[in-house]
Amino acid sequence: MGSETPCALVVMGVSGSGKSTIGESVAKRLHWSYVDGDKFHPASNVAKMSAGEPLTDEDRWPWLQAIADEIDRLAASGARAVIACSALKRSYREILVHGREDVRIVFLDGTQDLIAERLAARKGHFMPPGLLASQFRTLERPGADERPITVSIDAPIARIVDEIVSQLHLVSQ
Ligand SMILES: Nc1ncnc2c1ncn2[C@@H]1O[C@H](COP(=O)(O)OP(=O)(O)OP(=O)(O)O)[C@@H](O)[C@H]1O
Ligand SMILES: [Mg+2]
Repeated sequence: MGSETPCALVVMGVSGSGKSTIGESVAKRLHWSYVDGDKFHPASNVAKMSAGEPLTDEDRWPWLQAIADEIDRLAASGARAVIACSALKRSYREILVHGREDVRIVFLDGTQDLIAERLAARKGHFMPPGLLASQFRTLERPGADERPITVSIDAPIARIVDEIVSQLHLVSQ
């Protein structure tokens, strides 16, 4: 791989945009590890979420910092990973990327209607009504200065993975 190969891809988007599905497939394709960002929540956040209480930004900072620390750890050990994290606001992404050029954002872009359909069909997950609308209100689409890899999710999984990998311009895979 070239020296410009990222150490981490942060796959972002609203709930149901396909972060887990696409993130796992990209990781498999590249032979990188897949990490679900949700596992870095402190116990206090997990308790709040299980009680159905929304997290505040104050709750989110230590969580996002823990993911950023994991990225530094990965990079230092020469490992590479695809990390799923909704990262809806620019301020969240700034913590995750923390100025590292070897961390790339992958934005899963889709309409609220398409994602609502996918969530309705998804098994084993309960989605409170109104959550998707609130995610879209919160979403700050990444700006060009964030060098995002933006992909439309209105395509088969394998095509989306191809698109992400091709936009990475890896020297070899
Ligand atoms: N390209 C696609 N085509 C068809 N179905 C898809 C596609 N991508 C994802 N899905 C389906 O859409 C649903 C939502 O995907 P997924 O669970 O990966 O989203 P997520 O962003 O990880 O959501 P959450 O934030 O709630 O964890 C799943 O049932 C998944 O199988
Ligand atoms: Mg998921």
